[in-house]
Amino acid sequence: MANPVIEVKNLTKKFNGFTAVDSINFEVDEGCVFGLLGPNGAGKTTTISMLSTLLRPTSGTALINGHDVQKDPAAVRRSIGIVFQDPSSDDILTGRENLLLHCLLFDVPNAEIGPRIKWALELVDLTEWKDALLKKYSGGMRRRLELARGLLHKPRILFLDEPTLGLDPQARENIWVHIENLVKVEKVSIILTTHYMEEADRLCDRVAIIDHGKIIVSGTPTELKTGIPEPKRPPEVLKATLHDVFLYYTGKQLRESGDTAEGGFMQKVMNFTKKNR
Ligand SMILES: Nc1ncnc2c1ncn2[C@@H]1O[C@H](COP(=O)(O)OP(=O)(O)OP(=O)(O)O)[C@@H](O)[C@H]1O
Ligand SMILES: [Mg+2]
Repeated sequence: MANPVIEVKNLTKKFNGFTAVDSINFEVDEGCVFGLLGPNGAGKTTTISMLSTLLRPTSGTALINGHDVQKDPAAVRRSIGIVFQDPSSDDILTGRENLLLHCLLFDVPNAEIGPRIKWALELVDLTEWKDALLKKYSGGMRRRLELARGLLHKPRILFLDEPTLGLDPQARENIWVHIENLVKVEKVSIILTTHYMEEADRLCDRVAIIDHGKIIVSGTPTELKTGIPEPKRPPEVLKATLHDVFLYYTGKQLRESGDTAEGGFMQKVMNFTKKNR
């Protein structure tokens, strides 16, 4: 029997009455990659923020490596590494300085700092770039450095919030290989969010599709693909993909205006601009 390293029970987050995450439940087994997929504003980052103790749940619980996110946040933080959706490394520092800063923040023992930085740089093929300022890195190199940084304190669990956002196919492929190696060699368990369905299909053992804060379906990519009606397309491209699964469950309607808090804000900006034009 596999051992769950993440157990999420009725986890909910409300922002001033708006329910961003609505009583979700799931488990992630040790050494597995779990994908959280969903349209913009679905609640993916809010979920990761609660699991990584950056946001306090409104209700429900989550155990990370056996530690409760509310009762023992320090133990949770020691168990996890995180790559944020928005770039969070420092432009005016070198790659090595960024990693050093993280070691100091996470109390990596002094004698370990040098070897850990060397190991992490090698893991993501950035040893040659260690003394270059981050502003000289390409988007893909920066993402790789952030991945390395998330691993410096040897977490058992890694949260990757859109790890390949905006990268070209080569850089994306490169990150995928690094993630696959991490699972195989370092045995970390991963929660990953992404809008790239081929990324989820390639990397994830299980995925959950979340919309309006609720998990609407979950399973292995194969279960989900065979669980929807065959798409009506020419025979050579007949088989359902995760892209089809995603649109089947979440629809084709755009999410950039309307019911989300963000949408509400944009509507106000547009109304203001119209009025004052
Ligand atoms: N601090 C906050 N205060 C108010 N509303 C918030 C806050 N953070 C997130 N929200 C709202 O909660 C909802 C979920 O946001 P979240 O960032 O979790 O979505 P997401 O699934 O990560 O979307 P994306 O794919 O665009 O990154 C959105 O409607 C968002 O506007
Ligand atoms: Mg997000």
